[in-house]
Amino acid sequence: MCGIVGYVGHKDAESVLTVGLQKLEYRGYDSAGIALLLPSGIIVRKKAGKIRELISSLEEDPLPKSTIGIAHTRWATHGGVCDVNAHPHVSQDGLFAVVHNGIIDNFSALKEVLEEEGYEFRSETDTEVISNLLERNYKLLGDLKGAVLKTVRELKGSFALAVLFREDDDLVIGVRKDSPLVVGLGEGENIIASDPVAILPHTKRVVYMEDEEVVFVRRNSVDFYDFEGNPIQKEVKILDYNEEDAEKGPYPHFMLKEIYEQPRVLAVNLDMYVRDNRPVLLKDLNLRRLLLNRSRVVIEAAGTSYHAGLVGKYLLETYAGVPVEVEYSSEFSHRRLVADSKTLVVAISQSGETADTIDGLRHAKKHGLDVLAIVNRPESTIARESDYVIYTNAGIEVGVASTKAYIAQVQVLTLLALELAHVKGLITDDELEYMISHMKSLPRIVEKVLSLDAHVEHIAGKIFRSTNAMFLGRGINYPTALEGALKLKEVSYMHAIGYAAGEMKHGPLALVDDNLPVIVVNPKSSVYELTVSSTHEVASRGGRVISVITEGDRRMAEISEYKIHIPDVPEIFTPIVSIVPLQLLAYYVAILRGVDPDKPRNLAKSVTVR
Ligand code: G6P
Repeated sequence: MCGIVGYVGHKDAESVLTVGLQKLEYRGYDSAGIALLLPSGIIVRKKAGKIRELISSLEEDPLPKSTIGIAHTRWATHGGVCDVNAHPHVSQDGLFAVVHNGIIDNFSALKEVLEEEGYEFRSETDTEVISNLLERNYKLLGDLKGAVLKTVRELKGSFALAVLFREDDDLVIGVRKDSPLVVGLGEGENIIASDPVAILPHTKRVVYMEDEEVVFVRRNSVDFYDFEGNPIQKEVKILDYNEEDAEKGPYPHFMLKEIYEQPRVLAVNLDMYVRDNRPVLLKDLNLRRLLLNRSRVVIEAAGTSYHAGLVGKYLLETYAGVPVEVEYSSEFSHRRLVADSKTLVVAISQSGETADTIDGLRHAKKHGLDVLAIVNRPESTIARESDYVIYTNAGIEVGVASTKAYIAQVQVLTLLALELAHVKGLITDDELEYMISHMKSLPRIVEKVLSLDAHVEHIAGKIFRSTNAMFLGRGINYPTALEGALKLKEVSYMHAIGYAAGEMKHGPLALVDDNLPVIVVNPKSSVYELTVSSTHEVASRGGRVISVITEGDRRMAEISEYKIHIPDVPEIFTPIVSIVPLQLLAYYVAILRGVDPDKPRNLAKSVTVR
């Protein structure tokens, strides 16, 4: 959803900014641009296309050196994808250059006023309004800080901004409202960015900005203000990420690297949340208070996190006896909330910055409800605004298609459901310890599933020319089918639908012919027999069945064209194990279709617009 970065220091700004952009590319990649401040004024280079187009252009035709600048990678909202609409946007007389993440809701009204005053606009973007408004207000007031504050108060919508001011070569201005912005503190240099990953190569000391804050960043100082201009003291935090997390290492793509990191992620969470074969999440009395005596849980989430929520519903209802509804955040947050104080809202998000999920959280808080967040990124907006946070500890996930973060979400929900069931007396000590001892073998089991890589690649080779695919699953693996279909369509552009296996006969069965790959997720479970019947319905109509089944399962094997055998695990853990081959399948189909799975067209990892 656009990534912004700003730098002032002693290094070559172009290099700092382009490296920063590459780290932020997951946030959008339809165009990119950079502005540097030189003694002669602000110079801009921007290009439609991925960041490497911008970098090639800078290599072919270098810009003069500078130690101060701003840069942007875009996910278009207002205005088509072209060089002119790419950021930065410079004000009419060249006083200000602006990069922007977010949407200015009142841009048309502001644009009209500015046009009446003689401003001419070169792009179709909402962002150009900001640079011209800054210039207009600066000319009006003759005072920079006053002009910045007046401008940000006039803007409605969401905006993280980095701004260059032609008259000061020791200043980058940052603004945050409803879009993330982090300030990195270095020695004789400072940097601002949408995400700490762009800061990590320079410093681990950061300050997270809150909504309605402005920062004046200079080489040797950083000053924060609220929108009224009052100075604010901010806390400095130390990033605990490894830089390697944000690097591909020996893998050709982040998606593959992150799929392969899953055993480690499972082990990290076992280490964090399990002691002596018992989960310890509810040892924290605040979480216990939040979860106990609830008559209802509403999970709100988007995309892959929504699918984790669907698994969570199954787990919490089946094991902990709590009624759960799962809602798309974008639906939940904009309708009447019918709930009492015994309802707990659970927001699930990898990034913690998804605008729809933030809206859902605020909607719940406005109605006086408690919100528990299950989030991957510390210090994210959702983590900070919730009553309690359980971190999923998957590390930095860069690939746009979520993989390791999903497994971590499902794992945490599994631990939570089991522990809650135990606290409520619904499962015994022995049952809990039996489950957890199995959970401890999951890193090894997922490792084993990963060793099927070449087999899955072979199957991908058999289906990559298809135009459609169907994924079927039932019970706890219905969400696995949905997630498998989402992975395939988002990274390979093959149309795929996920369906509840039992529902298939009520419609989608009409799609089945001998061209349709049907991926059936049917490991040993309480709904195994029923799913065997659904698979027969597909096979007998010529559908090409690819099955994800438990080792030794002959009955499913007989009706499957291709089989992916996973180790035998208790039903509760099957979503964790059976999603792994589906992630690999999506990855290899994307590769065979010539699509970069890390950067699917039109998508962005962190969707900070509504
Ligand atoms: C975007 C991403 C998805 C992700 C969804 C929710 O659509 O492309 O991969 O699942 O946002 O993101 P979140 O960070 O809230 O989990």
